[in-house]
Amino acid sequence: MTAGSGLPACLRLQSFAELDSTNEEAKRQAASGAPAGTLIWARTQTAGRGRRGRAWVSVPGNLYLSLLLRPARPAGAAAQLGFAAALAVGEALLPLLPRVVDLAYKWPNDVLVAGRKISGILLESQAAGEGRIDWLVVGIGVNLVAFPTDSEYPATSMAAAGAAPVALDALLEAVARAFHFWYERWLAEGFEPLRAAWLARASGLGQAIRVRLPQGESQGRFAGLDEEGALLLDTDTVRRRITAGDVFPATR
Ligand code: BTN
Repeated sequence: MTAGSGLPACLRLQSFAELDSTNEEAKRQAASGAPAGTLIWARTQTAGRGRRGRAWVSVPGNLYLSLLLRPARPAGAAAQLGFAAALAVGEALLPLLPRVVDLAYKWPNDVLVAGRKISGILLESQAAGEGRIDWLVVGIGVNLVAFPTDSEYPATSMAAAGAAPVALDALLEAVARAFHFWYERWLAEGFEPLRAAWLARASGLGQAIRVRLPQGESQGRFAGLDEEGALLLDTDTVRRRITAGDVFPATR
């Protein structure tokens, strides 16, 4: 099968042997006026990036893609598409995994397999006038054959989890198709269906967690997501609404 032939018709695939970062390429193209639906795929990245300026290990054999979108929505809603991306990755990976292996979503946008991180998502966006989205880049990395062994949160790969082998182009198309489904639902129905689907497989829901915040740390019970995708954390004294942070199991 030719790479791209199983993609939704509104997506235009550009395939690269190597890039600095698929997100950087998508952003360069966004700045030059590239249309929504531009899909960038690289076999390897020399400067793959994760959230909070971290590096993303980008050896050949894993999946690295970025999708450029231009939804006519307020800039504040952009983060909700990270949940669409996580759901898309989850739905693409689940049929490949042994039944006994658990897949879960970790706030905000990670996908865990057997409790370890297998996929990360990096959203980057630019607002136009009146606080609306000009462009949004959804960057997705999936560990198929390799994973970092020194990451703060334990990682894994599909191979290590005992998954059925899958061709990179087939997985790219499965992720893109599932993302397109959730993106269309988001445009038509808002965040609620995504919120419900994500919560049905949320890691740590109802449990004690620790959230590292841009400033400081907070512990409490993971009570859910609000209607915009913020994490709700019940501490001993108050319910906190958290929009940015890294989640870990509680230490006390
Ligand atoms: C994270 O969990 O920190 C997010 C990782 C996002 C990695 C992907 S790989 C494809 C795209 N290009 C990048 O440079 N980063 C994202």
